[in-house]
Amino acid sequence: MCGIVGYVGPQDALDVVLEGLRRLEYRGYDSAGVAVRVGNGASGELASAKKAGKLANLEKVLADQPLPSSTIGIGHTRWATHGGPTDRNAHPHLSADGRVAVIHNGIIENFAALRTECEKRGIEFSSETDTEVVAHLLAAAYDEAPAGVDRFAEAMRAVCRRLEGAFTLVATHADEPDTVVAARRNSPLVVGVGETADGTPEYFLGSDVAAFIAHTREARELGQDQVVEIDRARGLTVTDFSGAPAEPKAYTVDWDAAAAEKGGYDWFMLKEIAEQPRAVADTLLGRLGEHGELVLDEVRLSDQELRDIDKVFVVACGTAYHAGLIAKYAIEHWTRIPVEVEVASEFRYRDPVLDRSTLVVVISQSGETMDTLMALRHAKDQKARVLAICNANGSTIPRESDAVLYTHAGPEVAVASTKGFTTQVVACYLVGLFLAQVRGLKYEDEVAAIVEDLRALPDKVAEVLEQMEPVRALGRSLADANTILFLGRHVAFPVALEGALKLKELAYIHAEGFAAGELKHGPIALIDQGTPVIVVVPSPRSRESVHGKVVSNIQEVRARGARTIVIAEEGDEDVVPYADHVIRVPRTPTLLAPVVTTVPLQVLACEIADTRGYDVDQPRNLAKSVTVE
Ligand code: F6R
Repeated sequence: MCGIVGYVGPQDALDVVLEGLRRLEYRGYDSAGVAVRVGNGASGELASAKKAGKLANLEKVLADQPLPSSTIGIGHTRWATHGGPTDRNAHPHLSADGRVAVIHNGIIENFAALRTECEKRGIEFSSETDTEVVAHLLAAAYDEAPAGVDRFAEAMRAVCRRLEGAFTLVATHADEPDTVVAARRNSPLVVGVGETADGTPEYFLGSDVAAFIAHTREARELGQDQVVEIDRARGLTVTDFSGAPAEPKAYTVDWDAAAAEKGGYDWFMLKEIAEQPRAVADTLLGRLGEHGELVLDEVRLSDQELRDIDKVFVVACGTAYHAGLIAKYAIEHWTRIPVEVEVASEFRYRDPVLDRSTLVVVISQSGETMDTLMALRHAKDQKARVLAICNANGSTIPRESDAVLYTHAGPEVAVASTKGFTTQVVACYLVGLFLAQVRGLKYEDEVAAIVEDLRALPDKVAEVLEQMEPVRALGRSLADANTILFLGRHVAFPVALEGALKLKELAYIHAEGFAAGELKHGPIALIDQGTPVIVVVPSPRSRESVHGKVVSNIQEVRARGARTIVIAEEGDEDVVPYADHVIRVPRTPTLLAPVVTTVPLQVLACEIADTRGYDVDQPRNLAKSVTVE
C-alpha cells in the first residue's frame, strides 16, 4: 500500500525523504507528497508540496517552487483508497490552521463520524480522504495537551485512542522543531537508527526498511498500538496508546536494497502470498455500518433499483473469472437470484439478455483490463446496472460503474495474481450478503454472523502459510512433471481451475482443472502411471455428500496409477488411505473455504516455477494489466 518516510537528523530532510520515496516506488502509488518543518526556535512553519501521478511530477513542482531547507521532513506515496488519486487527496494533509501535517497508510473505519464532528466545529475539509480528520484532530489534541516534553506524543496518543481501523500515521508540527511522532495499528512502521559520518544521530521512519536502507541497517520494529516520538536530543520514546512505556524490537537488516523491496522474499509473488492475511483483513475493514448494514465503497443505485434485480452476471478474465465462479455459489445461495458467470472476452459477442433489472458484477484487480471494460460498456449500453469489484482505486472500470467495492489489497506487483484473487473472493461474498440484505433476505444479525466467519479467514490463511515448508518440498519433487491435473467439486472446482492456471502461467507445465465428477466422462483417460493429481477436498460438513463423492474420485484416479496430492481439512481422516500426500487446511465454512484452500496451490506453483529456473514475477508472454482485446 502507501509508502511512508520520515526523517529527523542533520541532513537536508527533503533529499532524504525523496530518496526514501524513490526506494518505495515498487509498492505502487498514484500520487506523492512531502512536508518539512522550517524556522528556528519553537515557533516555525510547515511547508509542503504534493502532486498526483509519479514522483517525477512532484519533483517538477519542487523544482518550480522549492521548499526551504529543513532537517525534519515526512513524505508519502499514496495508493488511493478513500477518494480518487488527485492532487487534493495526495498526502500530507494539513490541519485547518496549517500547524500539523500528517501522512497515513491504512483505512480509518470511523472517519465519517469523526469528519462530521470536525465539520460541526466549523472545519472545512479540503479532501475526500479518511486521513484528513487525523490532521484536524491532532491539531486540536495538541492545543489541549499539557505543555511538556511529550506534548506532541500525548496528542497523538489521544487521537489514536479515538481511531478505528488500520493505520500507520506520521506527523510533524510547526511548533515542534525537533520532534516527529508516529503511530501504528495493523499497518507496518519501522524506525531506522543511524548516525552521520561525524557521529551525529539521525532517525528514519519507513513503511518498510527499503525507505532507509541506504543510510542505516539498525532498525526498531514497533508493536501493535504503539506511538513513537523521535526527538533530535532524546532519541526514541515508545509507548502504547495509553502512555505506558514500551520496548521496540531492535534488529539489524541484512538485506540489500533489492531484497528489502521484496521484504526479504525471493519474489514479489511470495511476498504477496504472505500478505494475504493482511489483505483479506483490509478488504473486510469498515464493512459493517452502525446498524449492521453492509457498506460498499460507492453505490450510485437506489435501494429500489437494487431490489428490482432479478438476474446477475459475473464477468471477468483469468484469475478474476475464477473468483466470479465462486461468487455464483455464494450469491445464489444467499439471494436466490440466478447468477451466470462468463469470461469477459466472450460476453458481449453472444448478445446476452440484459435489461434494467440485470446486475453485471465485473471483477478486475487492475481495473483496466480491456475485455472486462468492453463487457462493462456493453452492459451499460443495454441499461444493465454494473457493480465493480476492483483493487486499483481511480482506475477506469470502477469509474464507469454504478457501484464499487474496492478490495484494498494494496498493489500487486507479481504478474500472477494471488492476494488479488483471495480478496476478490472475499469481496464477492460481501456483494452476495449486500444484495441479500438490500432485498430483505437476511437480517442484520445473520449478516453479522457470516461477517464474523469472514473475519476469521485472515488467521486461517496465516495458519496455512505457517505450514508451507512440506508444500515447497513437494513442489520441488513435482518440477519434472509433464502434466498435473487438479480436481474439485462445488466451490473447490473453481479453486482447481485457479490452481491449474497458476501452474500453467508460472511453470509452463500442462495443467488442467476439472470438476471431479466430470473426470469419468473423458479426462480420466489422461491418467497414467505417476501422473500427479491434486484434489481439493470439500469440507466433510458440506451438503449432499459432496465430500464422500470426492473421496471416491480420489480412489478412482489412484486405482489408475495417479500420484494423489490431497488438500483436506484438519481432522478429515477419510482421505488418508488414498492420498500420497496430504496438505492440511483449517476447518472453514464450506462456502468460504476457497480463500484458504487456494493458498497452498499458489505456493506450489511458485516453488515448481522457481525450481525450474523461471522468473516467477514476470512469466513469459504475460502482462500484468491486459489493455488490449
Ligand atoms: C493470472 C492473472 C490474470 C488476471 C486477468 C485479469 O494470475 O493475473 O489471469 O487475473 O488478466 O486481470 P484483472 O483482474 O486486472 O482484470
